[in-house]
Amino acid sequence: MESKIVVDTLRRLRRLRTSPAVRALVQETRVEADDLIAALFVHEKIGPPEAVASMPGVFRHSLAELVKECRALSGLGIRAIAIFPCVEPQRKDTTGSEALNRDALILRAIREIKRSLPELIVIADVALDPYTSHGHDGLLNESGTDVDNDRTVEALARMAVLQAEAGADWVAPSDMMDGRVRVIRRALDAAGFSQTAILSYAAKFASAFYGPFRDAIGSQRAAGSAYLDKRTYQLNPANAREAIQEALLDESEGADLLMVKPAGPYLDILHALRARTLLPLVAYQVSGEYAQIQAAARNGWLDLKKARDESLLAIKRAGADMIITYFARAMAEALRTRGS
Ligand code: PBG
Repeated sequence: MESKIVVDTLRRLRRLRTSPAVRALVQETRVEADDLIAALFVHEKIGPPEAVASMPGVFRHSLAELVKECRALSGLGIRAIAIFPCVEPQRKDTTGSEALNRDALILRAIREIKRSLPELIVIADVALDPYTSHGHDGLLNESGTDVDNDRTVEALARMAVLQAEAGADWVAPSDMMDGRVRVIRRALDAAGFSQTAILSYAAKFASAFYGPFRDAIGSQRAAGSAYLDKRTYQLNPANAREAIQEALLDESEGADLLMVKPAGPYLDILHALRARTLLPLVAYQVSGEYAQIQAAARNGWLDLKKARDESLLAIKRAGADMIITYFARAMAEALRTRGS
C-alpha cells in the first residue's frame, strides 16, 4: 500500500538552506580577520622557531622571528596579538622578580613590535606565572600554602606600568586576584598611561585545558610533577553566577574589555555575560581547545579546517566580539583565500 503520510507544513525552514547563495544571505554570524587575536610565544633563544610539541603549528619565536610573524599576521589583516614569554628557568624565583626587570624579554618584545608595526595592537599578559619557580600567578604567603592576594596585586600593578611604558596597548591581568583591575587602573593613570586599556581575564576558570600552554611556557615544569592547582584563585568550572560576578566586578573596577576563558566549554558564560554588560567581550580559545582539534585531526578523526571554523564561529555566535586563538594565522589565511 502507498504511504498516506501527508507532510502539511506552512513553515519549511529548509527553503532557506537550498543553495550556497541562500545560505550566505541568511547567515547570522561570521568570523573575520578583524575578530581574531593571535596568541604568540617568545623565548630568549635565537634561530628558527621552536615547535611546541603539544600544539602542532605553534612555535616559540626568537625576538627577530616574532617580529616577522607579526608582520605576516598584520599582512593577513590581523589587528592584535597577545604575547607570552617563555622565561629561562634560571631567571625564575619564588617571587617572580624577573617580571619587574626593566629589560625583561616581554618588554623587549613589546618595544620591538611597536617599533616595527606601530598599528598592531599589542596585548601583554599581567601575571607572574612565567616568572615564578613554583608556576603560580602570584607571590605565595608566608607558609607557602596559597597565593597572597594583596602583595601580588602590588607586583602586578608595577608589571602593568612597565608593559605600558614599553608600548603595550592593552594590559591583560590573567591572575584572578581580587581587586587588581582597580589598582592597575590607578597605577597606569598615575604613571601617565590613561590611554592604556585593561583587558581583564574576568571569568577565568581553573581549567584542565591550559595543559599545553603550561608546557609551552614551562610553568608546569616549574611545578615539577605535582599538578599545578590554581583553584584558590581561578573560578570553579561549576560556577556560572560567580563568573558573572567576577566579570561585573572587573567592569566596576575599570576594565575596558572583559574576557571569558576557556571559550568553547564556557559558551554559556559568554552568552550570559553578553546580556549583562555593554563592554566588548573577548573569548580565549585556549591551548587545550586547540590541541584537541589538532590531535583529532592528526588521527584522521576530525576535519581540521571544518572543526577549526566551527569552533570559532560558535564562540562568536555565543557573544564574543573577538577571539584570542592559536588558529589566528591559519584562519586569516583561509579567509583571505576564500574572499578572493
Ligand atoms: C596564566 C595564563 C594561563 C593561560 C594564559 N595565561 C594558564 C594558567 O592559568 O596556568 C592559558 C592559555 C592557554 O591555555 O592557551 N596567567
